[in-house]
Amino acid sequence: MPETVPKDREEAARAAAELRTEIHYHNHRYYVLDAPEISDAEFDRLLRRLMAIEAAYPELATADSPTRRVGGAPAEGFGRLAHPTPMLSLGNAFSRDELRAFDARVRSGLNGEPAEYVVELKVDGLAINLIYENGSLARAATRGDGTFGEDVTANVRTIRAVPLALARADEGVPQLLEVRGEVYLPRRELDRLNQKREAAGEPLFANPRNAAAGSLRQLDPRVTAERALSVFIYGLGARAGAELASHAQTLEYLTRLGFKVNPNFRVFQDIETAADYCESWAEKRLDLPYEIDGLVIKLNSLAGQAALGATAKDPRWAIAYKFPAEQAVTVVEDIFLRVGRTGVLTPTAILRPVRIAGSTVSRATLHNADYIRDKDIRIGDAVTIHKAGEIIPEVVSVLAERRTGREREFAMPELCPECGEPIVRQSGEAAYKCVNPRCPAQTREGLIHFVSRDAMNIEGLGPAVITALLDSGLVTDAADLYTLGKEELLPMERMGEKSAQNLLAAIQNSKEAGLARLLFALGIRFVGVKAAGTLARHYGDIDQIREASFEALTELEEIGPKIAESVVAYFTMGENLELIEKLRRAGVKLTEEKTAEGPAPLAGKTFVLTGTLSGLTRNEATELIERLGGKVTGSVSKKTHYVVAGAEAGSKLDKARELGVPVLEEAEFAALVKAGGVV
Ligand code: IVH
Repeated sequence: MPETVPKDREEAARAAAELRTEIHYHNHRYYVLDAPEISDAEFDRLLRRLMAIEAAYPELATADSPTRRVGGAPAEGFGRLAHPTPMLSLGNAFSRDELRAFDARVRSGLNGEPAEYVVELKVDGLAINLIYENGSLARAATRGDGTFGEDVTANVRTIRAVPLALARADEGVPQLLEVRGEVYLPRRELDRLNQKREAAGEPLFANPRNAAAGSLRQLDPRVTAERALSVFIYGLGARAGAELASHAQTLEYLTRLGFKVNPNFRVFQDIETAADYCESWAEKRLDLPYEIDGLVIKLNSLAGQAALGATAKDPRWAIAYKFPAEQAVTVVEDIFLRVGRTGVLTPTAILRPVRIAGSTVSRATLHNADYIRDKDIRIGDAVTIHKAGEIIPEVVSVLAERRTGREREFAMPELCPECGEPIVRQSGEAAYKCVNPRCPAQTREGLIHFVSRDAMNIEGLGPAVITALLDSGLVTDAADLYTLGKEELLPMERMGEKSAQNLLAAIQNSKEAGLARLLFALGIRFVGVKAAGTLARHYGDIDQIREASFEALTELEEIGPKIAESVVAYFTMGENLELIEKLRRAGVKLTEEKTAEGPAPLAGKTFVLTGTLSGLTRNEATELIERLGGKVTGSVSKKTHYVVAGAEAGSKLDKARELGVPVLEEAEFAALVKAGGVV
């Protein structure tokens, strides 16, 4: 439907001004506050109406009009822009001691006065300088050499979190305001972008910083507009007008002007508590929707900052705290094959041990044969490896220039290294598999899975004990665990009276784990915790599942044809049926209470879990909520009904508080669940 444009020019001017104010307002709600009030369609309608008016009366289009965000014509190259005040860089600290040394320097520069610090996240992106003249975005530049940057104004205009006009412009804004921040690409956008690039055969962005830079430094602003970049603002350059005494006040002032300031900044009275806060992000940062490469510690007092000044490069009043490196270079000494529970062979690199992110790494996964071929990884190669959080280390790239010619290429063997039976590769799959169901490696991995926390949860039965039990012949399958006695356990290495007793008790207890856990523990292909729970609660009995047809199974919510086919196949194999009978004879519970029909007490309620609960694993808590009809999602929004916060809850808790979402402590959650009739 074509938009109606006022015939009268004055009326059109009024309508355009109103629309602009309205669009700026909703833009800020959506992109800065993350709390939209209107739908995307309604927003688009406002924008289209304004575009129609500006098309009919081009003279009404202002420089800060939101219609300018769509991206103009490509530029020839980037012009150079001088920064009104230089953009400095930051010195680095890699440890608490280095932070203490920084604090000592600051305090001696302040004649021993106590120093208060603001700690902010150091978002990994690209520094940007935004220049507002009389309240409107006039120019934007990259950092460049700190004195001159590249003119990326047209591209920055497409970033929705950058206000084109300052809020409260009517209250008198400074003639010139220089605003500093970091342009970044959220993780999800980076993944999406890389998937698209992979499909198009283009090189992938190695990290969010390169992706942000690549997206912003596009000669065609229309490309930038498609990239979903965002920005966090963390400081001011030149400014006039505002009376500010501290950096914390600066951040509040910037927020009032409509800028997106990262909410995780905190003020600390001394360097020790500031350092605690820095360290507390080492793990929590993995939950953030964007990457950070450290934190920035800034002296809070602006008078103090002025007194300390800067060296040629860095301010003396601020420092970056960097997390320990996650990458290192080492040598692939060998490649061996690990046989998994399903027979899949995973090539694993044996590395010359190297320290990364505070731990020693001596192995890295190579995923599959294609991965080795694509990266051309050879035995003897020098490689860069990467480790992030708890993720298994991975080989990122080969340093081909270091080759001596003595490196050896890896070839997949024809026989399983564990059992000597042939290996096959199914067409269309990357994985090679050992198809011998009696392969000892598969049995071992299957048992490790059977006793794991989300399965039968038998504590004290680690891989070493399982291997010993298998080697001694005391155990050949999962059901044999239930026939073990103390006299058989005691002769084992490092098995005392007390641990044997505990282990036997844990094994006995697991008999009551219930059908959902057992189904998961059996390791039926594609049946994860969720599907196992669905099947157990619907059928209530393993015999009912065994008899269920493919059609009946696929009628259940969340059971697709792949799972259904695998379940049917599992129950047609004689050895699986034998195992189930053996478990039955051992007294293992093969049933689960069916869920009552009718409305579930938590129906329609959405939960987000964060932090560590003491009484339940994440999966257990999820199962409980779902059993009561509730839903569990990964991120907090206005639509979340409850956030359940365990120990060391991270950014999701902050977000809940920010949005006013009710937060339940573990005890309150337990009470809610109890009220729902479970437990
Ligand atoms: S302050 C004079 N604060 O880190 C102070 N920088 O070398 C200069 N960065 O690329 C920077 N988050 O853009 C500051 N909260 C933050 C930051 C931050 C990210 C970037 C900055 C530059 C680098 C500093």
